[in-house]
Amino acid sequence: MSKLVLATRNKHKIEEIKTILGDLRLEILTLNDFPYCPELPEDGQTLEENSLMKAVTVHRFTALPSLADDSGLEVFYLRGRPGVRSARYAGENATDEENNEKLLKGMRGVAPRRRSAQFRAVMTLVGEGFQETTEGVCRGRLAESPRGSNGFGYDPIFLPEGFVRTYAELSSEEKNKISHRAKALEKMREVLSKVPRTR
Ligand code: IMP
Repeated sequence: MSKLVLATRNKHKIEEIKTILGDLRLEILTLNDFPYCPELPEDGQTLEENSLMKAVTVHRFTALPSLADDSGLEVFYLRGRPGVRSARYAGENATDEENNEKLLKGMRGVAPRRRSAQFRAVMTLVGEGFQETTEGVCRGRLAESPRGSNGFGYDPIFLPEGFVRTYAELSSEEKNKISHRAKALEKMREVLSKVPRTR
């Protein structure tokens, strides 16, 4: 069986990625299995930069193939913000609720047709002699107020295209069929199925 280390400690991301890749013959580890792994750099200017830095850091530390997810919510009215700063939009240690509140406040009074937004995930796989990057996008728009209690982050305020429910009102099966993360992983599937066995 091949081993793969997810370059994250985010339990929601871990759960989603493990479910989506559940049918592949992979033993999926996470940073929780490597408590001494150094802090992952997240100070890049783009999702692509952060995703690569995280995958490289974890691959160097573990000597195992590593998969990193850097993702964010891009609001067109805000020219792509919060984007790469999604996790820290309302400050360095901001909670999901604080980030949602700041975003909704900045969008107060903006008409529904101007509330377009998209989630974007950039996945990077780094192993001995190979590197691959994929991207997944889920288009939609911002809700007027938070709804639903599933998921994490901006889930309660994001309405994916074709749905009247927010990401946080979808079941995990529904979200994992249409999400930015699922789409990026779908494109990575072929490469992941060929990750070499580890001794
Ligand atoms: P990072 O990829 O760890 O830099 O942070 C991603 C941030 O984007 C998270 O902390 C969330 O705020 C947001 N985010 C990414 N993916 C999702 C998602 O599937 N649902 C809700 N928020 C997300």
